[in-house]
Amino acid sequence: MTITAQADEKVRPELDGVPETLLWTLYNRACEARRPDSVLHDPMAVELLDALDYPFEERLGAPSALFSQVQGLRSLTYDRAVQRYIGQNPEATVIALGEGLETSFWRVDNGRLKWLSVELPEGAELRSRLLPAHSRARVLPGSATDLRWLDEVADPSKGVIVTAQGLMMYLRPGEVRSILAACAERFPGGAMVLDSMPPWVTRLTRKGVVRMKNLPVPAMNWSMAGERRELLRTAHPAITEVHALTMPPGRGLRGSLIHHQHRIPVFRSISPAVTQLGFAG
Ligand SMILES: C[S@@+](CC[C@H](N)C(=O)[O-])C[C@H]1O[C@@H](n2cnc3c(N)ncnc32)[C@H](O)[C@@H]1O
Repeated sequence: MTITAQADEKVRPELDGVPETLLWTLYNRACEARRPDSVLHDPMAVELLDALDYPFEERLGAPSALFSQVQGLRSLTYDRAVQRYIGQNPEATVIALGEGLETSFWRVDNGRLKWLSVELPEGAELRSRLLPAHSRARVLPGSATDLRWLDEVADPSKGVIVTAQGLMMYLRPGEVRSILAACAERFPGGAMVLDSMPPWVTRLTRKGVVRMKNLPVPAMNWSMAGERRELLRTAHPAITEVHALTMPPGRGLRGSLIHHQHRIPVFRSISPAVTQLGFAG
């Protein structure tokens, strides 16, 4: 057992709205990690799921092989981007915005990096309660839109990579722009990884018609189809690199389609996209 809660004292998460969606992404990762042919090695996600007193199937539906694989591949895409960056900047700080119960610190730690998780108070409380404390990993309760977290990096010259997995779509366009601009300005030589939903998905969420069994998907306010990612450069002149991150090849035909989606024009404009930004040094 690596997580903090014990099997006989399950933790009941008191979450609703956007923070409750962290249970959906955890559920998908854990269901994926449980498979013998999993695309993601994440035993902690399984432990977390078992430690929570939450009606996962009743609220979110039966485990879905598709959602689990997509979630596993998305996490792996972020992990690989962070690993590439810390390969060049081994003492960098990783800032994970809206991290929920992601366990990427334990998947990618090189023994030297520093980790700062910025999460809304209710998500931060759950994270601190369930996940083990670590001298190089901190949780900062607060909103990613309150840019004071930028001051928490002790030495930006050692490198900074900011991740925002499953977060930006819930923010307003002006808030996304401010976060990108502030990171570009404050973290020279830094990088950022974010994912986006295409407009047709966010439109449906605002109409209130998207749900996971009994969990209504909260309204998404910011959208971006992958083919429009170049526009992110306009947030700040120090955003000097913008590129698509390809999900690693997955399992079966679906896994192969997920991997190749950005090469197929019709999929490219209608699928979620993962993008990496680089900031001028
Ligand atoms: C879909 S979940 C993704 C969680 C995690 N990144 C993952 O992939 O499992 C969205 C997360 O964003 C967090 N969140 C939403 N708005 C936020 C904000 N303004 N500042 C920080 N975190 C926020 C929620 O609490 C939740 O943990």
